Amino acid sequence: MHRRLPTAFVTVALLALLGLTSAQGVVNVYSARHYDSDTTLFEAFTEATGIEVNLIEAGADELIQRILSEGANSPADVIITVDAGRLWRADDAGILAPVESDALEAAIPANLRHPDGHWFGLSQRVRGLVYSSDRVDPAELSTYEDLATDAWRDRVCVRSSTNIYNISLTASVIASAGVDAAQAWADGIARNLARSPQGGDTDQIRAVAAAECDVAIVNHYYLARLIASSDPADQAVVAAVGMFFPNQEDRGTHVNISGAGVVATAPNRENAIRFIEFLATPEAQEVFAKANHEFPAVEGVAVSEAVAGFGTFRTDELNVAAVGENSAEALRVMDRANWP
Ligand SMILES: [Fe+2]
Repeated sequence: MHRRLPTAFVTVALLALLGLTSAQGVVNVYSARHYDSDTTLFEAFTEATGIEVNLIEAGADELIQRILSEGANSPADVIITVDAGRLWRADDAGILAPVESDALEAAIPANLRHPDGHWFGLSQRVRGLVYSSDRVDPAELSTYEDLATDAWRDRVCVRSSTNIYNISLTASVIASAGVDAAQAWADGIARNLARSPQGGDTDQIRAVAAAECDVAIVNHYYLARLIASSDPADQAVVAAVGMFFPNQEDRGTHVNISGAGVVATAPNRENAIRFIEFLATPEAQEVFAKANHEFPAVEGVAVSEAVAGFGTFRTDELNVAAVGENSAEALRVMDRANWP
């Protein structure tokens, strides 16, 4: 017995040595998220595991196309996107593989991940209403559906219907009330627009502050960014508006995710799973979510100061997979509504 100890020790030492060089290997991450703190987080993963992270950044649709064209030889292990609709597109294209992970199933609420583990939500983005503090009493606000009524004629700002956040929101209305109700809703929103859609969500918030419209449908982090900004012009915008989270009395506010999936052809599948599990640890969750003033996917993790100021509210418990499933129908609904 005593003689075997040195042998075991040598084996362990040899494995450790290999680990420092190449045995732990790499994980190739294709990411549509572009935040400096994500890179810091990936370095922490390397430090903790010895696994090198190779990062390729591009838009989600471009990354999906790239993986498709690389085919079986794709080096991609993990794909990260910033919308459930795009994770659904990736899955629909057949480039994601199911993952069974007790750690991920325990950490991430069931509605924020694919039912069979094809992808996992890692942060939450909430599509709320930013209103003019001068011209709107928050007591007048209630639901997305109410914004389609005549009370809001020529008062609503929202970006174009080609934007995936609006496609996902419309898809969630279809999931909750059916296509006919979603059509009536989209018709009403298109009718109530204060101006033809232009710019991104931040532009809609600025338009409310500039009295071009009274209420805007935007992701919460765009307002959080302005709140965290030291630019006096941003602070003037913040002073003129308020944040409202609709549908508190029924299904809850529409929530979307940024998330990750393991690529079906991943050459480093085990490392890919470890990478996503790492991103779901409380420590990583805090950094990942705070990078863009998002809400963590994992409960009990701290949010940014600006986001903490929004208080607590209910989000829709619909599985975000339903958003992807209804996205093609949502596009047809918005098209018929002449939502530009
Ligand atoms: Fe965004």
